[in-house]
Amino acid sequence: MQYCESFDGKPVNYFINEPFHTITSIAKEQQIIYLIDACVFEKHASLFEASPYILIPSGEASKCWATVENIIDQLLVFNANRQTLIVGVGGGVVSDITGFVAAIYMRGIAFGFVPTTLLSMVDAAIGGKNGINFGEQKNLIGTFNLPSFILMDYAFLNSLPIDEFKNGFGEIIKYACLSDIRFFDMLFMHTIEDYQKDIHKIDALIQHCVSTKNKMVMADFKESHVRKLLNFGHTIGHAIEKAHHIPHGQAVGLGILYACKLSETLRKFEPANTLKIKNLLQQYQLPTQITFSNDLIDSMVKHDKKSTDKGIDFILLDTIGKPHIQNIPIDQLKELIAASTL
Ligand SMILES: NC(=O)c1ccc[n+]([C@@H]2O[C@H](COP(=O)([O-])OP(=O)(O)OC[C@H]3O[C@@H](n4cnc5c(N)ncnc54)[C@H](O)[C@@H]3O)[C@@H](O)[C@H]2O)c1
Repeated sequence: MQYCESFDGKPVNYFINEPFHTITSIAKEQQIIYLIDACVFEKHASLFEASPYILIPSGEASKCWATVENIIDQLLVFNANRQTLIVGVGGGVVSDITGFVAAIYMRGIAFGFVPTTLLSMVDAAIGGKNGINFGEQKNLIGTFNLPSFILMDYAFLNSLPIDEFKNGFGEIIKYACLSDIRFFDMLFMHTIEDYQKDIHKIDALIQHCVSTKNKMVMADFKESHVRKLLNFGHTIGHAIEKAHHIPHGQAVGLGILYACKLSETLRKFEPANTLKIKNLLQQYQLPTQITFSNDLIDSMVKHDKKSTDKGIDFILLDTIGKPHIQNIPIDQLKELIAASTL
């Protein structure tokens, strides 16, 4: 399926469930340089024989300055210029790095994404936010920078380990909590294996998430109001991800549960709904328990991009499908987290 969406006047072309080689017709005249996750390259090397490529070591640790510098060094070796198209092939780590490098190299060059994890297909590759970590701070440095295209070839999912499928559901369950009780209930009727086996089911799932995110991003590209909702589960999730070195999707699931607990106190969110969300996370084999030290929350939250002088814009739920943004003072947030057990 091919279509185009416009964000702040900039078009992004979507090629969903299209074969990888479609890329040759997308970039007819341009020199392509691929930025590829090393693990994805290992599994799909034959796809990249004809073009220059730069490998990015797999894993969150790559989302840092050293990787960016290394990529720029190699772009220079390939004589990349403003006519070059760089294409990130990998999960959210690669899309974040690619969008960032493309924004700063020669003050901006064209780029595209070929997301290869479920998480990046439903979320990380969508919406034009790209960031790298800085020290302990998650996504502290980054840009709003839209790709010219996003190509999803579901064949990449055939090599995706089951744990990475699970991580994708951390973000998918986030959408279900934010937007639509029918989508939430539909997830209850399926399992990871159903989606792994059935390309039509995974296609419908991915398309639903992409269109949910696109609607919010179109309404608020620079994240000044409605787009903030997409951070549901992420404030505490990011702190957990950094402190416990667990994958993003798992940390978001745990962050969602903390946000539910806070919503019980601050928004009269029904404890029965917290339990429902916990059950859904368990159904998709995501962790629902953690002993989380409050010590780290201070510095994490202080540098969170939703922080203001007063506190932090935290995403709560009134009920499933009805989110609410509430500014919570940092001290109160710490007390509430300390009082919450999952
Ligand atoms: N910018 C955004 O809007 C946004 C949104 C959500 C998440 N993110 C970021 O995305 C990152 C998480 O993304 P992720 O979960 O895709 O992680 P990831 O990019 O680290 O990929 C996860 C693992 O899967 C492997 N992999 C990728 N594709 C594969 C394939 N097809 N076959 C086999 N192995 C494969 C990778 O080598 C890696 O080990 C985090 O850094 C998070 O902050 C960004």
